[in-house]
Amino acid sequence: MLVSLALLLFLLCHGTGKVDGHSSDMLALLHFKMPIIAAASDPNGALKSWNEKHPVLPVGRRFLHPEAPQACDSADVVANCSNLRTIDLYHNNLVGEIPLKLGLLSNLVVLRLSRNRLSGMVPRTISNTSHIEKIALSYNQLTGNIPGELGQLLDLSYLALGGNNLSGGIPHSLLNKSSLQVLAMESNRVGGTLPPSIGDALPDLQMLVLGRNLLRGYIPASLGNASNLMLVDLSSNNFAGTVGEWIRKLMNLTYLHLNDNNLMGQILSSVTNNTQLTLLNLKNNYFVGSIPSSVSNRSQLSFLSLANNSFTGSIPSSISNLSQLSTLSLANNFQGIVP
Ligand SMILES: *[C@@H]1O[C@H](CO)[C@@H](O)[C@H](O)[C@H]1NC(C)=O
Ligand SMILES: *[C@@H]1O[C@H](CO)[C@@H](O)[C@H](O)[C@H]1NC(C)=O
Ligand SMILES: *[C@@H]1O[C@H](CO)[C@@H](O)[C@H](O)[C@H]1NC(C)=O
Ligand SMILES: *[C@@H]1O[C@H](CO)[C@@H](O)[C@H](O)[C@H]1NC(C)=O
Ligand SMILES: *[C@@H]1O[C@H](CO)[C@@H](O)[C@H](O)[C@H]1NC(C)=O
Ligand SMILES: *[C@@H]1O[C@H](CO)[C@@H](O)[C@H](O)[C@H]1NC(C)=O
Ligand SMILES: *[C@@H]1O[C@H](CO)[C@@H](O)[C@H](O)[C@H]1NC(C)=O
Ligand SMILES: *[C@@H]1O[C@H](CO)[C@@H](O)[C@H](O)[C@H]1NC(C)=O
Ligand SMILES: *[C@@H]1O[C@H](CO)[C@@H](O)[C@H](O)[C@H]1NC(C)=O
Ligand SMILES: *[C@@H]1O[C@H](CO)[C@@H](O)[C@H](O)[C@H]1NC(C)=O
Repeated sequence: MLVSLALLLFLLCHGTGKVDGHSSDMLALLHFKMPIIAAASDPNGALKSWNEKHPVLPVGRRFLHPEAPQACDSADVVANCSNLRTIDLYHNNLVGEIPLKLGLLSNLVVLRLSRNRLSGMVPRTISNTSHIEKIALSYNQLTGNIPGELGQLLDLSYLALGGNNLSGGIPHSLLNKSSLQVLAMESNRVGGTLPPSIGDALPDLQMLVLGRNLLRGYIPASLGNASNLMLVDLSSNNFAGTVGEWIRKLMNLTYLHLNDNNLMGQILSSVTNNTQLTLLNLKNNYFVGSIPSSVSNRSQLSFLSLANNSFTGSIPSSISNLSQLSTLSLANNFQGIVP
């Protein structure tokens, strides 16, 4: 069953009695909870755990079947929810556009609408939710540009917009948002280049997920200054040039996806310092050089793909010391034999 998000927010906030402030919101939420439970469509019982002490809406996965009211005045949709702090409607069948009225939720901290079928643009009015910290709109059908207004959100630490059809560039206001810890925009049609200063401008960044887009240019060496980086996914773009020493500085780097670009030069000598490295995907580039025997020191490594590059030399026997390795792909490089 498909449910319109605007309708849902209407259900959420409509029909409360004349109660002031926060309790008005609570009643609105309770009102929303009832029809779901009445329809026995909360098989996981997620809503039962919800109560006055936890003012969030943990609707969760795939079981949302609110009964639609006959008429719905969408003009007032969220007007009475000004204290709402969390909206979590992850993985339902929500359709329609994200209401512009979202901007009225001035105390919203978390907005999670990922894995629905929402269409239209990311509303610019989101800049009005000035306390928001996490926005997850991934895996919907959103189109248009990423609004630069997102950069006005002072507390924003988590932004996930992957798996949509967003185009244009990444707004510079976002690439300068020092509060960001997670920036995920994979699988869109996002183009342009990354600013040279990105790593200095986003010092707290832990995850940079930009794979499967239309990005081009060089990978900025300043990423080495974002020392908390744990996941870097720049795969399947048009990045070119060499990948410098910056990787060495990222002591927490665990997942590095650089596959399917036009990258060249030596790289393996730069990944000797990353003791946490679990996944290294370099496939389909133009990297050169030999595998250093120190690769055996990467004991955490469970996925290593070097396929379709121009690596040379022999495959060090120490590679057999990688006891966690479950995927090793070396095709179209060496002439040696895997020990
Ligand atoms: C919002 O709340 C006020 C009272 O606080 C009430 O008069 C009004 O009808 C409510 N609006 C909606 C759409 O529920
Ligand atoms: C933005 O917030 C202001 C006041 O906080 C409010 O008057 C205005 O209607 C809001 N705009 C939108 C689009 O939500
Ligand atoms: C994505 O948007 C482009 C236009 O910008 C359109 O041509 C294309 O069909 C869209 N793709 C999907 C899967 O919606
Ligand atoms: C980044 O932000 C700083 C201040 O926070 C500002 O001085 C600078 O011009 C901004 N740079 C860009 C590219 O927006
Ligand atoms: C990294 O930070 C240091 C110290 O803040 C600075 O001197 C250096 O230029 C930065 N490196 C890059 C590549 O931005
Ligand atoms: C790395 O991760 C650890 C633990 O998760 C954390 O304490 C540390 O601040 C992170 N950053 C660096 C640069 O080590
Ligand atoms: C490599 O790691 C060591 C500590 O394990 C550190 O002292 C050194 O600075 C790192 N190298 C680079 C290039 O960051
Ligand atoms: C090998 O990598 C290059 C560079 O990314 C790519 O153009 C080419 O299609 C790849 N070849 C195969 C067989 O995947
Ligand atoms: C492997 O790591 C040990 C210490 O962890 C270090 O002493 C040794 O030099 C490293 N070997 C290589 C080949 O980097
Ligand atoms: C591989 O591991 C064994 C013991 O686990 C060690 O003796 C040997 O030196 C290692 N070989 C390399 C090349 O690191």
